[in-house]
Amino acid sequence: MKKLLIANWKMKPRTAREAVKLAKASDVRDVLIAPPYAFLPIVKNALKKATLGAQDFFYEDPKQGGAFTSAVSVSMVKSLGVKFTIIGHSERRAYFSETDEQVTKKILLAYENGILPVLCVGESQSVRQRGIMEAKAFVALQIAKDLSRVPQQAKKIVIAYEPIWAIGTGNNDTPENAADMARHIKSVVAKNNHGLNVAVLYGGSVNSKNITAFAKENDINGFLVGGASTDVKEWKAIMAIVKKA
Ligand code: 13P
Repeated sequence: MKKLLIANWKMKPRTAREAVKLAKASDVRDVLIAPPYAFLPIVKNALKKATLGAQDFFYEDPKQGGAFTSAVSVSMVKSLGVKFTIIGHSERRAYFSETDEQVTKKILLAYENGILPVLCVGESQSVRQRGIMEAKAFVALQIAKDLSRVPQQAKKIVIAYEPIWAIGTGNNDTPENAADMARHIKSVVAKNNHGLNVAVLYGGSVNSKNITAFAKENDINGFLVGGASTDVKEWKAIMAIVKKA
């Protein structure tokens, strides 16, 4: 099965010029790219083949805009041609105090606007230290809360399993554990949101050296890549490996 490959540039690169360079180097069919808001228009202009996404949007979308200084609405990103959005990344939950309630609102807004939601879930180090069953229970609860307002007519969701302890640490989960969690996530969605088609991605210190082993796991449907997606050499190697998988 074909694997999904999503680049989460997070708060990189530093300048517009570098963003255009990175976009051009990443412009491959079937690859999905989520640059920072500030670079969305220039990246859109630089891309011919890759799919443009957002890293987030605000959880309110008043029809006439609104008084929410610095916030970016779903209508704004939609008008720039964004096709998917990352929602509920652990960095948003940690540094911006994002709640499950806000995540549910964003998922609903994504569906209402025809944007594919890429929901991020994953446990902390302290939860994982209590064992894999604890981690599975944590992830199941997160999914139950975050998908509690998915509309009946919604057909597809992408869920990225990103254990917090594996993000940006060089300490990736094992492909076997990640595949086990992917099966768990699929069974939770099948139970709670019957009929919703789910693709499960793995994210957390994915690089060109470890991705081949993850790609062999049939239950892992793709990858959400942070750091390595902003390093042109690494990203090109990753794109080549995923293309062949
Ligand atoms: P890294 O690939 O840098 O560990 O980040 C993963 C991530 O958070 C992608 O959303």
